Amino acid sequence: MASQSHELKRVTVTGAAGAIGYALLFRIASGQLLGPNTPVELRLLELPGKPVEALGRGVFMELTDCAFPLLKNVICTSDAYEAFDNCDVALLVGARPRGKGMQRADLLRANAKIFKEQGTAIGRVASPDVHVAVVGNPANTNALITSRFACTAGGRADPRNITAMTRLDHNRGVAQLAQCLRCGPTSIERFCIWGNHSDSMVPDVSNTVYRKHLDDDNPQPVAKLVGESWIKEKFLPVVKKRGSAVIAARGASSAASAANAAIGHVHDWALGTDGRWTSMSIYSEGQYGAPYGVYCSFPVTCTPGFNYKVVPGLKMDAETESAFAKTTAELVHERDIAFKEVGL
Ligand code: NAD
Ligand code: LMR
Repeated sequence: MASQSHELKRVTVTGAAGAIGYALLFRIASGQLLGPNTPVELRLLELPGKPVEALGRGVFMELTDCAFPLLKNVICTSDAYEAFDNCDVALLVGARPRGKGMQRADLLRANAKIFKEQGTAIGRVASPDVHVAVVGNPANTNALITSRFACTAGGRADPRNITAMTRLDHNRGVAQLAQCLRCGPTSIERFCIWGNHSDSMVPDVSNTVYRKHLDDDNPQPVAKLVGESWIKEKFLPVVKKRGSAVIAARGASSAASAANAAIGHVHDWALGTDGRWTSMSIYSEGQYGAPYGVYCSFPVTCTPGFNYKVVPGLKMDAETESAFAKTTAELVHERDIAFKEVGL
């Protein structure tokens, strides 16, 4: 069983009055993020005016009314320096949403400014050992901007402790495979997402196995069980376009499943994956030929204490290699647009 700290952890959530925030805060406060023995103080950051007022009144009342034993304090603020002061874990959810007719490049520019400000505050006042998960889109590039301002020019954070979330894409892939094979999600192992949290992502089943139960020592390759045509015609389009499909179906972007993925991302990073693979966008140090310094999704395993390791030695087939080259080229393109906006 993973070791758990009994020390109070300060957890900052930005965009806390939003849809994901509402699905996230109660789970953090109940111990689902850092385990059942770790007391937490919540630092909730919102825009000034109505958003922070709604948070400070309504959400604060509801958090209080849950009487969570692990929740020691709640601070609602629109001051990034107060929100990140000495924080141990930060979930950066708040972001400028894509407006009607807005291109991805406009979104990148608008968010680059937000994440420059928040990254600067994190680098100056958060714990130097802060661990950050970026959820707000475009998540990978927002993580990069956060990192550049939190970790350089006097910023005290470590770029390897800043991550972006591709766990929702990972969970979506596992769920589709489990449905197709009529099994539980834990029977699916060694699935991963490579690259960017965008349509260019690369869901990869080439190493994925089906294990009937935990002690099954005869795992079977999933690709053979589900068939190549199902992967190409059904699986890949569904996983890659699931975000837009949810928006079309409910008129708003995924919130509860995104919050669930954020909990899984940080929980597993903090407490370990017990040898199982998950997908995380991390600071690229050139693994598998990814460009250095961008935030790219890789298959990882985690061990307790916020340690991740990219799964080594995998072979990519020609198609995956070419798709990986495209998604990482997109990360570089996004980096260039965002860097220009913030004077890097
Ligand atoms: P939402 O609009 O309901 O909430 C966002 C909140 O952020 C709002 O309350 C807004 O006031 C706040 N906010 C905006 N700018 C801020 C700033 N500078 N500082 C603090 N707060 C700020 O949106 P949501 O549904 O909660 O989604 C949040 C983000 O998560 C969006 O960017 C969305 O695209 C993204 N998302 C990512 C994934 C993923 O898999 N990575 C999945 C789903 C959604
Ligand atoms: C998702 O994957 O559900 C979201 O990233 C979609 C979005 O644009 O908010």
